[in-house]
Amino acid sequence: MCRWFVVKVGFAGLGVMGFPMARRLLEAGFQLKVYNRTVEKALPLKEQGAVVASSPGDLASDVDVYITMLRDADVVEKFLIGEAFFKARSGTIFIDMSTVYPDFSVKMASEAERRGFSFLDAPVLGNVDAAERGELKILVGGRREVYERVLDLLRVMGEPLYLGASGYGSRVKMIVNHILITTVSNLAEALALTRSLGIKPETIMDIMGKHPTGRALEYYWNRMLPEKTRAKFYIELAAKDLMYIVETGVRNRQELPMASSALQTYTKASKTIPRKDYTRIIEILK
Ligand SMILES: NC(=O)c1ccc[n+]([C@@H]2O[C@H](COP(=O)([O-])OP(=O)(O)OC[C@H]3O[C@@H](n4cnc5c(N)ncnc54)[C@H](OP(=O)(O)O)[C@@H]3O)[C@@H](O)[C@H]2O)c1
Repeated sequence: MCRWFVVKVGFAGLGVMGFPMARRLLEAGFQLKVYNRTVEKALPLKEQGAVVASSPGDLASDVDVYITMLRDADVVEKFLIGEAFFKARSGTIFIDMSTVYPDFSVKMASEAERRGFSFLDAPVLGNVDAAERGELKILVGGRREVYERVLDLLRVMGEPLYLGASGYGSRVKMIVNHILITTVSNLAEALALTRSLGIKPETIMDIMGKHPTGRALEYYWNRMLPEKTRAKFYIELAAKDLMYIVETGVRNRQELPMASSALQTYTKASKTIPRKDYTRIIEILK
């Protein structure tokens, strides 16, 4: 007998993050159905036993849980309101793990519930390496009883943290990404200044070594210094997240000058190097 409360899972979005998350679910024994716009990315999972759906709507038929790990809120809305909500059976639990903005998560929860579904916002902290190891931090908002029904499923992908009502997972994600992306932007600017002043980065790393900020500096400069860094989190996605963060600040009457400044840098970089790792922002600061 299967030990899972939830057995049949639909997973939409097999990008950098979604692919390893979906693979972990498959390997844990869930009956997995997947959908990705670029169908080739689904083929390795098909070989491992997943069923490949032909559309976001097709993915919704005959699943207990429908997970989205998509680029942004517009794409999630297109998948769910545009298609999946028409095909899902009553009681289906939708879990959006994409990074979106809190008001969007609240809106989607209400749209889902008025159609007889459940909805959790569950964005994640951690990169592709954490996704592969099942070590993401999963920031969950929504009804606690729904969260408890999918706890075992979430645990396959990482450590679930229940944060409150709908939108609270996305709220916390906004704060976490504010810290991460403005830190990278700040450290890239300091590295550009270091180079402009003819100082070796190693000199600064040595001096800052024991300072509390030294660890972050060493970690991120070591990602920025090589000309080639594997893209784990795209510049265009960091720009999208900063846009959501700044808009969330505006809606809550909170000034965010650091995030606004970083948004300008990342927006500019998105025009030329959208698919480089977000630490490669250094390239436009040269
Ligand atoms: N990378 C990270 O370290 C990280 C960490 C935490 C959270 N996140 C968040 O997780 C989400 C996914 O990120 P990722 O790094 O996996 O990005 P990604 O590799 O670019 O994957 C994006 C996914 O969205 C799909 N997609 C994009 N635009 C679409 C459209 N117009 N119609 C249909 N499908 C579309 C892509 O399909 P195709 O394959 O066809 O392009 C792909 O499945 C984002 O919200 C991101 O902010 C990322």
